[in-house]
Amino acid sequence: MKILNFGSLNFDHVYQVDKMVQEGETVSADRYCRHFGGKGLNQSIAIARAGAQVYQAGAIGQDGRDLVDYLKSCGVDTGYISILEEASGHALIQVDNQGQNGIIVFSGANGLISEDMIDRVLEHFSPGDYITLQNETSNIPVLLRKAYEKEMVIFFNPSPIPEDLKQIPFELVDYLFINKSEGATLSGEKDLDKILAVLMNKYPNCSIILTLGSRGVCYVDKENIYTHGIYDMPVVDTTGAGDTFCGFFIACMSRGVPIPKALETASKASSICISREGAAPSIPTIQEVESWDLIPVKNRVETVRRLAKAENE
Ligand code: RIB
Repeated sequence: MKILNFGSLNFDHVYQVDKMVQEGETVSADRYCRHFGGKGLNQSIAIARAGAQVYQAGAIGQDGRDLVDYLKSCGVDTGYISILEEASGHALIQVDNQGQNGIIVFSGANGLISEDMIDRVLEHFSPGDYITLQNETSNIPVLLRKAYEKEMVIFFNPSPIPEDLKQIPFELVDYLFINKSEGATLSGEKDLDKILAVLMNKYPNCSIILTLGSRGVCYVDKENIYTHGIYDMPVVDTTGAGDTFCGFFIACMSRGVPIPKALETASKASSICISREGAAPSIPTIQEVESWDLIPVKNRVETVRRLAKAENE
């Protein structure tokens, strides 16, 4: 079984600010750094650092060779990345004193993934292979349909959430990673229990992994509901925490790790990620994660217990 990640590769321009810039304002940044990023690249690095082999597909410009070299240095197979005439994607990221971020993404070459490129990559993969997707590259609906026809196991993190949800065949997805605001947009509900109930009703064959920041994570499928809390770490920069979670969870699934243990490992990895600066550089290795056994877990998600109770009544 192989793992393909068809996703974005960005240069992240990160500005440390006292307070996020608001409409009509100009603010000074205290610090500037350039990191490697993009939800695709981050998730591949997380999968590789979690100890699994991953093939990254996607597109960069002539300016993007450092992105490929970085992926290679992290053990990711980069053979399916196309080099196009367009500039590589980039993101402008503000990080405030609480470690929270605000991101603008320019897709660049990530927005030029064609159907032909998709076909050329997928022909190297087989039924049962994993594919992981985010929503920073073009032609996601086509990619989802082709991966489904090929009987690949589909992991989808629809971030940034698209305006036109109807275009995306969510019903083809096996594992859906969303945060609360994405869940609210997809379900039309605000309350956590209702979000999960609506999504399970709409997509009964999908496993939903709802990440809730400081409140932890809920996992729901047809038969199971699990929750896990976060770990008590200083918040330096939350950028890439979601990608770290996805990558570690996918790597655990590929090794047949039971869901509760996969949630624990992915939660530990993303808690370590937020205690460091940057996206890709802050992603820990599996060895680091396994040596952090003593960090106390906190803030389990109570609401899922209510959902489970309601279902049993
Ligand atoms: O999820 C974090 C990523 O979002 C950053 O690395 C940035 O490139 C944006 O795509």
